[in-house]
Amino acid sequence: MGNWHGCGSLTAEDAKAKRFEANTSFTPSTPIAIGELFAGRQHQASKIVDAIGERGRHLILFGERGVGKSSMAQIAPFFIPKSPRAIRHIRVQAFPGDSFAAVARRIFSQIHFEDDYGESRKAYDVAEFYPGDVTIDHFIAEMQHFRESEIPIVVIDEFNEIDDKDTAITVANIIKALSDVGSNVTLMIVGVADSIKDLFDKHHSIERCTEQIMMPRMAVDERRDILDRRLAQLDMSMTLPAKWKIINLSKGLPSYVHALGKFAAFTALDRRDLAIADSDVDVAITQVLQSAQQTLKDSYDVATRSNQARALFRHVLTACALAKVDDAGYFMPSAVREPYTNILRRPVGIAHFQDALRDFAERRGGILQRTGEARSYRFRDPAMQPYVIMRGMRDGLIDETARQALAAGDDPDLFASD
Ligand SMILES: Nc1ncnc2c1ncn2[C@@H]1O[C@H](COP(=O)(O)OP(=O)(O)OP(=O)(O)O)[C@@H](O)[C@H]1O
Ligand SMILES: [Mg+2]
Repeated sequence: MGNWHGCGSLTAEDAKAKRFEANTSFTPSTPIAIGELFAGRQHQASKIVDAIGERGRHLILFGERGVGKSSMAQIAPFFIPKSPRAIRHIRVQAFPGDSFAAVARRIFSQIHFEDDYGESRKAYDVAEFYPGDVTIDHFIAEMQHFRESEIPIVVIDEFNEIDDKDTAITVANIIKALSDVGSNVTLMIVGVADSIKDLFDKHHSIERCTEQIMMPRMAVDERRDILDRRLAQLDMSMTLPAKWKIINLSKGLPSYVHALGKFAAFTALDRRDLAIADSDVDVAITQVLQSAQQTLKDSYDVATRSNQARALFRHVLTACALAKVDDAGYFMPSAVREPYTNILRRPVGIAHFQDALRDFAERRGGILQRTGEARSYRFRDPAMQPYVIMRGMRDGLIDETARQALAAGDDPDLFASD
């Protein structure tokens, strides 16, 4: 079948096996579960370890969608220095409509123990003892049942999904109470930035007993670390321009580093080659676009649809995606000017696209979000930003200079302005 000329050195069997390995080591759609595959985040990890070590201190971990909050919460125990004390890592997810009792019972069902209640020694979980309602007092009492020889960490992920305000207030009160009774449990509340921060900012009582940790987008060296760890594990290599392309395109969202890395590796392996080339990333871009969630494709269409042939919504949106963002993903309108100028190949002022920006925020599916003072914007769904850039590349909106800049190294802002 395959033509051996131009093929790499791998046998078809070996290439297949590598492909399988690559598929498990790049995980674009699931949180990291293995410490060795977790990249960067030293700074956040050390803050988390400090809070876990300090009795009566609890954690709030927040950030944009997809920056790696769940992965951090899952890997946290990996960062705790070896100790004779045993880590009890209990993780639950919150869902819309959850009451406090529902969350508490879910936590209880993860607390397993063995005992003899007259039916010989048997395994139980705490939830079995609460067939009815779970009150705040029950919860606090159970949280004090952990042994001193244990390091209990209780994670409530997706906390922002809870729409019931009372539940959130209850959790704030529990944090305060656990801190006051000196329990050795560390509660770790994880969720998307704004809602979580708002909530806890309103409860000043917990300020002193919580460590609030913001997960920023991944820094350039952390993105690179994601690739390097996997390439080393797979015994594969990647050219520097290929790495930069992936690093810069991801805009700090790790799932894109995984997705582009995976498809680029697949493409190289299709050639039976262990060396990933620049052009493999270009193939990966089209594959990532094809496999993107339907919701991204739909929102893009809604945002850029127009009856007027001369409407430039696609161009403005692409420029927005190229604009320099801050840690929370916001860009200033002035930062859109330079990429927009590059896309249109003629100088433009802010007046040329200000209406379009407002349109993107107020209509057109609300693809952009504005800050209160309306001074800056961001993509409502962070995953949209790399998607728009890649669409722009595929559709020829982004010119060769910008494409080259993308692969040129640690200067993702060559084609964006401050
Ligand atoms: N430190 C890391 N090293 C390598 N990959 C990571 C790291 N953190 C996150 N990822 C990858 O990034 C993607 C998103 O991670 P994760 O699910 O943890 O983010 P999240 O902030 O919890 O997202 P969401 O807001 O959707 O819940 C996953 O594919 C995960 O494998
Ligand atoms: Mg998550």
